[in-house]
Parts: sequence; structure tokens; C-alpha cells
Amino acid sequence: TRTLDDLARQSGRYFGSAVDNPELADTEYADLLGREFGSTTPGNAMKWYATEPQRGVFDFTAGDEIVDYARANGLKLRGHTLLWHSQLPDWLSSGTWTKDELRSILKNHITHVVKHYRGKVFAWDVANEIMNEDGTYRENIFYKTIGPGYIADALRWARAADPKVKLYLNDYNVDGLGAKSDAYYALIKQLKADRVPIDGFGLQGHLALQYGLPGGIKENLQRFADLGVDVAFTELDIRMILPADEAKLAQQADWYGQVTSACLAVKRCVGITVWGYSDRHSWIPAVFEGQGAALPWDENLQRKPAYDAIRAALLAA
Ligand code: G3I
Repeated sequence: TRTLDDLARQSGRYFGSAVDNPELADTEYADLLGREFGSTTPGNAMKWYATEPQRGVFDFTAGDEIVDYARANGLKLRGHTLLWHSQLPDWLSSGTWTKDELRSILKNHITHVVKHYRGKVFAWDVANEIMNEDGTYRENIFYKTIGPGYIADALRWARAADPKVKLYLNDYNVDGLGAKSDAYYALIKQLKADRVPIDGFGLQGHLALQYGLPGGIKENLQRFADLGVDVAFTELDIRMILPADEAKLAQQADWYGQVTSACLAVKRCVGITVWGYSDRHSWIPAVFEGQGAALPWDENLQRKPAYDAIRAALLAA
């Protein structure tokens, strides 16, 4: 039977799943991921703390492990992430930097990492989670030290290091219409007007049943597409308050189907990535106590109703 990625491919899209390095040792898990999906994203391996643990000292061991796994399994690879306020190395977050120093640190980091993975990743989340919920800029170390121009800088440096890779901004709570997605809409419009390289907008898609499905997902995807960028769901999962029951799993399945259909309805929605595909390996229980069961496969790697709903949505396209 055809995989989710086979079905996504029929319309030129991919269906992917994140993977974190320790999960590669779970061969049952890694094998199923390699068979069912067409793309993967490293959960942690390409983040700043992992790739530049000491200033100017680069370590690509973990990232290269994912590159090798992707290649062995015929998976495309999304790079995640060049710049984020979280999981920065201590030397960077505990230092005090002048604007010029931090610009040069950022340029050096982006240049080295992007050059190393040139030809190996098809896209980069260049800047991750740079907006607050109200649509103002998040006051991360880069904003505070360099000012909002760090975003255009980062995109230009990434483009200089790899002329072909797709450059994305990526965030959560931007799946539907709202103040935060409005802010990205305005920013990307401005970046385009200023001829700053920007190719895509990533909607993480970390949803929760108890908060309701965001409104206007399709309209939101379409307005970014109309600006001339690709869009993608980059970290989709749909958590619930545990224990799971039949009704919650049915609602979750419905949402997975709706999100998939929304992507398929927008020509420039290029693919969907789930943030891990099974409840066996998920970031959620450790971060949201009492929540979980967010993925389309359960802890035993058995398909849940969500899998069937995704499949049905892909077949209907
Ligand atoms: O590396 C240490 C290890 O040495 C230590 O023994 C262990 C004990 O806690 O922790 C390990 O670090 C963990 C790290 O993942 C690597 O496994 C951190 O505690 C843990 O907090 C960290 O979680 C990651 C999280 O980002 C950090 O915010 C998740 O795996 C990763 O899936 C998650 O991914 C993010 C995206 O990058 C951006 N969008 C949101 C998404 C979910 O939070």
C-alpha cells in the first residue's frame, strides 16, 4: 500500500517527520520513518548549541548522522534552525556583546553551518520564533543587541552561503489568522519589497485539542503564497489532555485531516512535517504535564485514526 509520502508526491508535495539522534538507535522506529516518509527534520542536531558548542569551533557530528540516515533512506532534509532564542550555547547566551561582535558571530555561524550542509538540506529555518504572540518582535539576544535588522542580515548571509537552499522563517501559533501571523505577513511583505532573500514561511502547527482549531488556516496559507513564498507545516502535532479516549482521538483525526486538506488546497503549500510521528517519541509529555498522544501513530507504532484521516485527505486531493 502507498505511504503518506507516496500520496503527497502525487501532487508534488512531501510528507515528513522530525527525528532526533537518540531515536536512530530505535531501529523499528527509524525503519518505519524511513519507509513511510519522504522528508525529515533534525529535532535538535542542527541547532546552535549542537553545531557551535564553543565560539568558532564547529561540531557537525550529530547533524551529519541525520544527513547519513536521510540519504540511506531516500529522505529529503529540512535544516532546523540557524537562529533561535532557545538552545543557544552558554558561551553565546552568557556573553555580553557589542552590536558589531554579535553581527560577526551570527554571520560566522550561519556561513559555516549553511556551507557545511550545502546540497544536503533543501530548506533552512533561518530564523525561528522571532515574534511575540501580540505581533511585536521577540526580544531575543539578537534583537536586543543588533535590532530588527538581524533578520534581513541572517537571510542575506544564508543566501550568500548557499544560493539554492530555500530560506524560511518559522514559528508556532501562526497557523491561522491572527496578530502573530499578521506580523509575519507584514514582515515578509517588507522583506520582499526590500529584495531580501526569503523563500518560505513555516507554520509549526503545534496544536492542542483543548484550545480549538485555529480559524482561517487555508486563508492564512493562501495570503502568504500570494506574497510569493512557499508555505509548509513544519512541526505538526495535535496534543490532548490525557488519557486519550475515542472521542478525543476522533477529534484529533478530524483536525489532522483538516490541516492536510488546507495545505493541499494551496498550490504553494509544499509539504507537511510531523514533529515525530509516534507517541513513543514526542517532546510533549516532558513539557506539558498530563498532555500527549499527539501523533498519528501510537506508542506501539500502531496507526491511530489520525493516520487514516491524513490518508483520506491525501487521497481526496
Ligand atoms: O542534551 C541534553 C542531555 O545531555 C541531557 O541528559 C538531557 C536531560 O534532560 O537533556 C538533553 O537536552 C534536551 C534536548 O532536547 C536534547 O535531547 C533538553 O532537555 C530538551 O529540552 C530538548 O528538547 C527539545 C526542545 O525543542 C527544546 O526547546 C526537543 O527535543 C525538540 O523536539 C524541541 O523542538 C522544538 C523546535 O526546535 C522549535 N519549535 C518547538 C519544538 C518543540 O519544543
